[in-house]
Amino acid sequence: MSATLTPLNPANVQGDILVGLPKKVQHYLFFQIDNDVTSFRKRLGLLIPLITTTAQVQDDRAKISANKEAAAKEGKAPELLKLSGVNIAFSQFGLTKLGITDNVGDTAFVEGQLKDSQNLGDAGTTDAQGNFTPDWLPAFKNQIHGLIIISGDSELTVSATQATVMAIFNIGIHITLHEVTTLKGVVRPGAEKGHEHFGFLDGISQPAVKEFDTKPNPGQETVRQGVILCGRENDVDANNNNTPFVRPPWALDGSFLALRYLFQLVPEFNTFLTQSADPTTGLSSDLLGARLVGRWKSGAPVDVFPLQDNPEAGTDPSQNNNFRYDFPDDQQTQDRCPFAAHTRKTNPRADLEDLNISTESRRIIRRGVQFGPELTPAEISSGKTIEQRGLIFAAYSGSITNGFQFVQHSWADNTGFPINKPVTPGFDAIIGQNGNGPRSLSGANPKNQSATLALPANWVVPKGGEYFFSPSIPALRSTFALA
Ligand code: HEM
Repeated sequence: MSATLTPLNPANVQGDILVGLPKKVQHYLFFQIDNDVTSFRKRLGLLIPLITTTAQVQDDRAKISANKEAAAKEGKAPELLKLSGVNIAFSQFGLTKLGITDNVGDTAFVEGQLKDSQNLGDAGTTDAQGNFTPDWLPAFKNQIHGLIIISGDSELTVSATQATVMAIFNIGIHITLHEVTTLKGVVRPGAEKGHEHFGFLDGISQPAVKEFDTKPNPGQETVRQGVILCGRENDVDANNNNTPFVRPPWALDGSFLALRYLFQLVPEFNTFLTQSADPTTGLSSDLLGARLVGRWKSGAPVDVFPLQDNPEAGTDPSQNNNFRYDFPDDQQTQDRCPFAAHTRKTNPRADLEDLNISTESRRIIRRGVQFGPELTPAEISSGKTIEQRGLIFAAYSGSITNGFQFVQHSWADNTGFPINKPVTPGFDAIIGQNGNGPRSLSGANPKNQSATLALPANWVVPKGGEYFFSPSIPALRSTFALA
């Protein structure tokens, strides 16, 4: 790709990547392309004007803020603006189906997530020939060609947009796109808004993108554009001495998307916290939960607030990301934060940076949304999951191998990570995986840090997923669609 690039144009980049489609409801429509590929490509040309760009999302978000401000002035709760967004991404199967033969330059993407599932630590079975099959839902064992993301203020709006999208691809008996499955995400209600199903505020720590997010919050790290967008500055392979990735020209301003359908066993997780608490040493179930995540439910980081929650700081962007695990006692003790806390495993900050190991190319931008209902009284009283709920995890980066795959496999699943610690950190209790094998971590109890806490179950259970490439708008026009 050319070294002299024009500055990033937000009208060229799909809107979910750098800003995030605004949503209360979000559908993920996984599809296969029909054998009449030419017709599909022509219909795709008709969809392009409906695709929400970064510039449009910036505009929508400005309208949402203005609406909130106007309502606040009148002392009213704001009414939701009717908004809808559409983005599209393709898997390697999709590229092949479309006859796009260029190698986009990411081995995990080319192989697909089903083949990567054992390497990610997913539970499953291995047959006599040594072939591994993960415990995924059947839909995700199909070849999925692509994904359409549809977001909006309500189920009604999103369903209507989905119907419009389907009507573009499928007219009467002339079908060019088959739905494999649609996952329906919904933001949690009321005070739980922004919190994932275990109850913790999510979406706080995201990398700022250089020359795009120009006002990072205190503690928020800025990454060069190529960490998120292909073909931009520092689009390099951190797993191979930072060698520049070789990409086809149309990959410029596209981004890879790791999509995971993650079920969460919330009553079981809560029971575990209650049973493992040790009030005689001051370890309440709330503190234990906060230490497993690295943040209190409010969002307040345990590195700064190790023993007591601080709800005000949890939601304050000037405070809630302003930490590096670099207090004098942080590197060798787990007084403040366990080495294996979820946030520390997935972004170890000073643990590596102070060893002069850059974490820039490991950063991902997390979008995604919760799915499923709130806990029912029957689930609360029985302590058993009855309804399906969890997180549709979606992470963008300029490379799956450097980003999501590395964070899951080499950090969360790796008991020796972070390195150079006096005790073995163990698994990330939230997402670390060991196939069908056992998991544990150290440092759960600050008063007994070398003790190992057995994790008797996986409370986050992957049920499917795929790797996608989210092309730029110019690439959709020039390479994917037909006029
Ligand atoms: C159901 C599964 C998951 C749950 C419940 C969960 C929950 C959370 C929560 C509560 C936070 C703290 C809020 C924040 O800093 O934004 C967080 C941060 C984060 N999570 Fe997850 N997460 C899940 C899956 C994953 C997966 C699969 C990955 C990647 C392999 C991941 C990577 C991250 C990263 C990179 C951060 C930010 C860490 C930081 O910069 O401090 N998460 N997650």
